[in-house]
Amino acid sequence: MSDAAELKVKELKPVYTPGQIAARVRELARAIDAVYGQEPLVAVCVLKGGIMFFSDLVRSLKNPNLELDFVRLSSYNTDSFSSNHVIFSKDIEIDIHGKHVLIVEDIVDSGHTMSFLLGQFRARKARSLRLATLVDKGERRELDVNVDFAGFRLERGFIVGYGLDYAEKYRTLPGIFEVIPA
Ligand code: IMP
Ligand code: MG
Repeated sequence: MSDAAELKVKELKPVYTPGQIAARVRELARAIDAVYGQEPLVAVCVLKGGIMFFSDLVRSLKNPNLELDFVRLSSYNTDSFSSNHVIFSKDIEIDIHGKHVLIVEDIVDSGHTMSFLLGQFRARKARSLRLATLVDKGERRELDVNVDFAGFRLERGFIVGYGLDYAEKYRTLPGIFEVIPA
């Protein structure tokens, strides 16, 4: 177990309620539908954190020509701070050459993870490439990442719930909370 897993949590402070998240996801779905209409689109879920957002978002989209795929990325650290070295631990299976692609991520923090994925997908010559993230966190941004659809902009804090974890815990909470360490 990593050191982070052994850190004690004093409190989980509510940040976004399930109702706020659901309302925002519906708004994002409308904005995404307005961009793609009925054009064929590949929505790519970034596992594991993106799973709840992805599942709610794709069910809110009206696009009948939607394909789903999944990617899992690892960075070399397992603590709550992302490292700079990102690799695929699972790649998508669909050939995205010439297709519209929408990446669906839980949170953009330093920007390293999404810079890596955007670069990889760009090299595969997708017809278009856009990024939806539930949370766009400003505090530790190191690389410029163009976020096309952002659910919430958060200045700082480490958050869990609705897919987001702290050492693999709290992913299944229906709301989002800030971890207050002991
Ligand atoms: P980045 O590469 O620094 O942008 O980090 C992206 C990844 O770090 C996200 O996909 C999350 O898995 C994780 N991460 C960053 N901030 C948080 C947070 O506040 N809570 C949970 N995970 C986070
Ligand atoms: Mg993530």
